[in-house]
Amino acid sequence: MELRRVEELMDLLHACRGARGTACLGGAPVDLHDHALQTAALLRRSRPADKELQVAGLVHVVGQLLRPGDLTGHADRAAGAVGPLLGERVSWLVRLHREDRMHEPVMDDPVMEDVLLLRHADESARTAGLDAGVLEDWRTVLELVSTRHARLGAVD
Ligand SMILES: [Fe+2]
Repeated sequence: MELRRVEELMDLLHACRGARGTACLGGAPVDLHDHALQTAALLRRSRPADKELQVAGLVHVVGQLLRPGDLTGHADRAAGAVGPLLGERVSWLVRLHREDRMHEPVMDDPVMEDVLLLRHADESARTAGLDAGVLEDWRTVLELVSTRHARLGAVD
């Protein structure tokens, strides 16, 4: 499945309110809605200007929503779904956040740093009941990243 409009993505994320998914890295199941918001909020704190990284944190749960309970390949599934809408960088951040072979010297340091930040936020965003804002706060950010990607799409 490929997402083409921010509205579709928002609907999908809204639908996960109350859905309990197995945490991406194992461990106790988390509320996917809260987990997505907390991951994005943590990344906003560490990289306030990097909207793509924040959005990657928000949407990394989408793979589990598309196929609930199936963790195998969930990062690839999410990456494929959001790529057409949010662009290549968001897509590979989502894909690599669960890539076990990322220590291989195939990526330059800034890329590795981004992936590690996302992974760290993913691991930390598991606090039940922690208020990390609401999904609607992210609509304009998603629109911004999506619009930027659409504009640059021709040269991607
Ligand atoms: Fe996660």
